[in-house]
Amino acid sequence: MNLILLGPPGAGKGTQAKRLEDRYGIAQISTGDMLRAEVKSGSAIGREAKAIMERGELVPDAIITAMLAARVARPDCAQGFVLDGFPRTVPQAEALDLMLREKGLALDHVIELQVDDAALVERISGRFTCARCGEGYHDRFKRPRTPGVCDVCGGTEFVRRADDKAETVKARLDAYHRQTAPLLPYYAAQGKLRVVDGMAPMEEVARQIDAILEGGGRAPGPPPTQT
Ligand code: AP5
Repeated sequence: MNLILLGPPGAGKGTQAKRLEDRYGIAQISTGDMLRAEVKSGSAIGREAKAIMERGELVPDAIITAMLAARVARPDCAQGFVLDGFPRTVPQAEALDLMLREKGLALDHVIELQVDDAALVERISGRFTCARCGEGYHDRFKRPRTPGVCDVCGGTEFVRRADDKAETVKARLDAYHRQTAPLLPYYAAQGKLRVVDGMAPMEEVARQIDAILEGGGRAPGPPPTQT
């Protein structure tokens, strides 16, 4: 099963992609996580991406598509994958279509998580992760069961992302509306797009996604007409 989760920053793509990895045995591929690992390692890609990410802009398509092609070729993708944060531009989507065709693969669904911009700012500004295992939390929506202690690994250090500052979040939202939202009509035209209410609690979002994967789910209306 090969899936894309589409949605603005903070929509819950990472939260749901991790769950899908556990539930369906498919690989979660987050281009954001991959880029953050490159930045941390100080590689050439990381050095180029760092300033771009801190401004909330998109890293050039050529870097991202090469990185993605190498990742999809790894053995853990044999049962399928869920893409979280890719594609983000129409050229990335076209490169993905070509890559999958060459491998004899296809996308099963593109699932859009719909969330209002105002809610996104609250979600992003409240987000933090365990420094040791990467488990994600939120000041309001998902606190550790014991304050200050990670539920998963018992770690006691937590980190917040450098690009989760209010001014960068605004730039990331602008980039989404300008460069990524055109993917919605792109995938609707392919008959692949499904939508879920990303404003619902996490468990309800998960239930709606499972309904899509098990054969039901909500398709969007017809794609907007081009003017
Ligand atoms: P990336 O890491 O992909 O960030 P993003 O798309 O901005 O998405 P986020 O990770 O911020 O949010 P999410 O949707 O995963 O939400 P989450 O589950 O964490 O990209 C970062 C940067 O890398 C980009 O700006 C760009 O520079 C670069 N980049 C990456 N990919 C690229 C590409 N393909 N091309 C070019 N550049 C690229 O949830 C957010 C919070 O809300 C969490 O705290 C969570 O607990 C909470 N939450 C989740 N669901 C719910 C719910 N239903 N109700 C309440 N709270 C919820």
